[in-house]
Amino acid sequence: MKVLVINGPNLNMLGKRDADQYGVETLDQISHRISAKAAELDVNVEFFQSNHEGSIIDFLQSNFENASGILINPGALTHYGISLRDCLSDVKIPFIEIHLSDIHEREEFRRHSMISDLCLAQIKGHRGDGYIMGLERLVDHLREQGQT
Ligand code: DQA
Repeated sequence: MKVLVINGPNLNMLGKRDADQYGVETLDQISHRISAKAAELDVNVEFFQSNHEGSIIDFLQSNFENASGILINPGALTHYGISLRDCLSDVKIPFIEIHLSDIHEREEFRRHSMISDLCLAQIKGHRGDGYIMGLERLVDHLREQGQT
C-alpha cells in the first residue's frame, strides 16, 4: 500500500513559522515521524511539498494511479484552491485533510475549506501529531476496504 503525503505553500518553512499555531517541528522532522509510523504499519509513503498549486496538481496526476490514499495539508490553498479541489475530486482516491493549527479557531477566512466535503476526515489543531493520526486513520480505512 502506498500513501502520498503532500504539503502545500509555506509548509517548507515549518520551524520558522508562528510556533503558537504550527508548533516547533520542521517539515523534515514531521516527515521522519511519518516514515517511522509508516514502517510500523507496513505502508510505503512518498512525500511532496510545493509552494505552487499547479506543481501539486502535476504531482497528483502523475502519481495517483500508483497510490491507495493521500494525506494532504494544502496550506492556504485549502481556502481558495479550486483547481486543487477539482484534481482531488478527479483522482477519486481517499484522502485526509490535515492542518497543524485549528483553522476553525482562527481568522474567519480560514474557516472554509474547499476540500472538506470530499475528504474522508479533516484533522486540525494537533500540530505535527495530526499527520500521524491521519496516517493511522487512512490506513485503517484502506485495510477495511481490503487493501494490503
Ligand atoms: C494550515 C492552515 C492554513 O490556513 C495556513 O494557510 C497554512 C497552514 C495549517 O496547517 O494549519 O499555511 O494549513
